Amino acid sequence: MAIRIAGIGTALPEKVVTNDDLAQHMDTSDTWIRERSGIGERRVGGTTSTMAIEAAQKALDAAGATPAEIGLVVLCTTTPDQTFPATSAAVCEALDLTCGAFDLNAVCAGFPYGFITAYGIMCAPGGPDKVLLIGSDAMSSIVDWTDRGTAILFGDGAGAVVMEKHEQGELLSFDLGVNGSLQSILYCDLGDTIKMEGREVFKRAVRAVTASVQAALDDAGISADEVDVVLPHQANIRIIDAMCKRIKIPMEKTYNVLEFTGNTSGASIPLAMARAQELGALEPGKIVLMTGFGAGMAWGTAVVRW
Ligand code: UT7
Repeated sequence: MAIRIAGIGTALPEKVVTNDDLAQHMDTSDTWIRERSGIGERRVGGTTSTMAIEAAQKALDAAGATPAEIGLVVLCTTTPDQTFPATSAAVCEALDLTCGAFDLNAVCAGFPYGFITAYGIMCAPGGPDKVLLIGSDAMSSIVDWTDRGTAILFGDGAGAVVMEKHEQGELLSFDLGVNGSLQSILYCDLGDTIKMEGREVFKRAVRAVTASVQAALDDAGISADEVDVVLPHQANIRIIDAMCKRIKIPMEKTYNVLEFTGNTSGASIPLAMARAQELGALEPGKIVLMTGFGAGMAWGTAVVRW
C-alpha cells in the first residue's frame, strides 16, 4: 500500500506579536529571544477549530479533493475548543462531513502520531482512501503572558494535509515513545497555564529527538546522508541544530518557520512542511523525516519516501 500527501494547507491568525512587543511588558529583548530560540515573532488569535477548518479547506483545494471524498478526520491538538465534543466534530460540521473523526493529543509530537495513526487506519481492511490530518493549536490561550520563560516561545496556527492512497509515497519507518516520568517538566493543568522547566526540557528534548530519529533511520535502513528533507518540530532552532549535529544531517536540509510562528505545537510540522513545499523541496522520491517532541515527554518520528 502506498499513501502520499496530496495537498497541504495552513492557517495563521492575522495578529502578529513581535519580540519587541513582548519586551514592552516583560524583562526580555528581541536579541535574547532570537539568540536563545530563533523566534522573531508569533501569531496570536483564532480558535483551534477556526484555524483547523481554514487549513483543512486549503489542503482539500491543494489536493483537488472534495470533502465528500474524505473518509476520516484526525485533528492533532492540545488546545481543544472544549473538553468535549472533540474539536474534530466542528471541522466535520464546517466541511459537511459525517465520516469518522477524532482529536489526538500527543502535544508537540502530535503530528507524527497523527500521521502514523491515519496511515495505519488507511491500511486496515476497508480503510478510507483519503484522510484529512490536521494539526491545530491555539497555544496563546494557555500561555501565562507574564512568564518570560514560556510567553516568548508559543504561538497559534494550523496545518493540514490530505493523505491519499496512491502509487507514489510510502512510510518507511517510524518511532513513537513517551517517558511519563518527565511529565512534571512541562505541563498545563486544566484551566491553568503552561508550566515549563525550560533548560531541562531543552536537554531532554535533544536527547529524545536524536534517539528517535536515529531509531527510525536505522529501522528504515536509511543513512543520514540519504535524508533529503527534515521537518522538525518548531520549538527552538538550537534544539534542531543540536539534533542535526548529532545525527550528522546538515541544517540546510531542515525547513523551519519558527522565526515567524514560534512554537505552534501540533501545527509546527505541517507548517514546516508547507514551507518545504513552497521552496520546491518535496519532490516525489525524496526521503523526508518528520520529528516532534514535547510534553509527556512524548516523541514521534516518521521517515517517508515522498
Ligand atoms: O515543544 C517543546 C516545548 N518546549 C521547548 O522545547 C523549550 C525548551 N527550552 C528552551 O527552548 C530554552 O530552555 C528557553 C528558550 C526556554 C530558555 O533558554 P535557555 O538558554 O535554556 O535559558 P535559561 O532558562 O538557562 O536561562 C538563561 C538566563 C537566565 O538568567 P541567569 O540565571 O543566567 O541570570 C534566565 O533568567 O536567561 C534568563 N532568561 C531570560 N532573559 C531574557 C530566561 N528567559 C529569559 C527571557 N529573556 N525571556
